[in-house]
Amino acid sequence: MTNFKNLIVTGGSGFIGANFIRYLLDEAGFAGRVINVDALTYAANPASLEDVAQRHGRRYCFERADICDRETMAGILDRYEADAICHFAAESHVDRSIVKPDDFIRTNIIGTYTLLQLARERAGRIVRFHHVSTDEVFGSLGAAGYFSEATPYSPNSPYSASKAASDHLARAYHETYGLPVTTTNCSNNYGPYQFPEKLVPLMILNALEGKPLPVYGDGLNVRDWLYVRDHCAAIWTVMQRGTAGRVYCVGGRCEKPNLEVVHRICDLVDAQAPKLADGRSRRALITYVKDRPGHDRRYAIDCTRIEQELGWKPAETFESGFERTVRWYLGNRKWVDAVRSGEYRRWMDQNYTQR
Ligand code: NAD
Ligand code: TYD
Repeated sequence: MTNFKNLIVTGGSGFIGANFIRYLLDEAGFAGRVINVDALTYAANPASLEDVAQRHGRRYCFERADICDRETMAGILDRYEADAICHFAAESHVDRSIVKPDDFIRTNIIGTYTLLQLARERAGRIVRFHHVSTDEVFGSLGAAGYFSEATPYSPNSPYSASKAASDHLARAYHETYGLPVTTTNCSNNYGPYQFPEKLVPLMILNALEGKPLPVYGDGLNVRDWLYVRDHCAAIWTVMQRGTAGRVYCVGGRCEKPNLEVVHRICDLVDAQAPKLADGRSRRALITYVKDRPGHDRRYAIDCTRIEQELGWKPAETFESGFERTVRWYLGNRKWVDAVRSGEYRRWMDQNYTQR
C-alpha cells in the first residue's frame, strides 16, 4: 500500500476523472489531498464535483490549467508538493478526432510528454505516475480472441493513435529514466457524468426525448462495457499495488453488440420514464446512419493479469450497471441540461447535419 499525500489528478472534471475523485474521497479511504488539474474544455463539467468541493474542504483543490503549459504545470506540481499523478486528461471522442485531430495530437501526445518530463525532473518526490489509457490502441479484433498486455499496438483512429503514442512515451520514461509509471488500458466505460456525445448517454437522452437513435453501420460492432466505478477501483488498485513499469488491461468481460446496448437502454427508458406520445417502444426510434470511417469491429479484453495479480474484479453486471446508469441520467436533468448547452451543441450542429 502506498500512502500518497498530494495526488494530482489531470482531467478530473471529465467523465472518468470526476468519478475517480468521488471514489477516492467518498469510498476508497484515501487520506491525502486531491488536486484536480483541468483545462475545462467542452467535455468538462465543474458541476460534476460541486458537492465534493463542499464536502471535502481542503482535501479537494482545483486548478484550471492546460497540461501542455509546462511552466504552469511545474508551478502546480511544486506548490502542492505533488508525490503522485493520475493522468486522465485527454481529448477522448473518436468521432471528433476524425473531423479534427489537432487537439488530440496536442493534448494526448504533447500534454502527456510534458507531464512525464516534469515528473522525471521531480523523480525524488514523485513516487507514482499512473497513465490512464484505452484498449483502442490495440486496433480491432475479428470474431474471436481477446486483447491482453501482450497484444501488439495497431491503432486505427487519430484518437487511438494519439493514445498509443502517449502509452509509448509513458513506457519509455520508465525504461529510460526509471520513472515509476503504471498504465491501464481499459475498455468502454459507462455510468454517471459521461458527456452525452458518447453512445450510452446520447442514446439515453435521445430516447427520453423521443429523438432518433443514430446507430452506425449495421449496429453489430462489439464493445466490452465496464461500469465507471469499477474502472476507478481498478486504477486505484494499480496505483497502490501495481508494479512500476507494468501495464494492466482492464475490462468488464461484458461484450455486447451496439444494438443490444441500445435495445437495453430503450427498454429501461420505456420502463422508467413516461411512454412516448404515440405509445411505441423507444426501439422504434433506432435509425441506421452512415458508418464511422475506420470503425473498429470488435473490442474484448482478457483482464486475467489484474484479476490474478491484484485481485480486482468488476462489481457491476450489464444488467445492474445499465439500470443504475439510466436511473442516474433520468434523475439528474440539471446536470444534463448544463452540459448540453454551449459549444457541444454548436459542434453537433456543424458536424452531424447528415443525420
Ligand atoms: P472526457 O473527455 O470525459 O474528459 C477529459 C477531461 O480532460 C475533460 O475534463 C477536459 O477538460 C480535460 N482536458 C482535455 N484537454 C486538456 C488539457 N490540454 N489540459 C487539461 N485538461 C484537459 O474523457 P474520459 O472519458 O473521462 O476519459 C478520461 C481518460 O480515460 C482519457 O485519457 C481516455 O483516453 C481514457 N479512457 C476512456 C475510456 C472511456 O470509455 N471513456 C475508456 C478507456 C480509457
Ligand atoms: P463511443 O461511445 O463513441 O465509444 P468508442 O468509439 O470509443 O468505442 O461509441 C461506442 C460504439 O457505438 C462504437 O462502436 C460507435 C457506436 N456509436 C453509434 O453507433 N452511434 C453513435 O451515435 C455513437 C456516438 C457511437
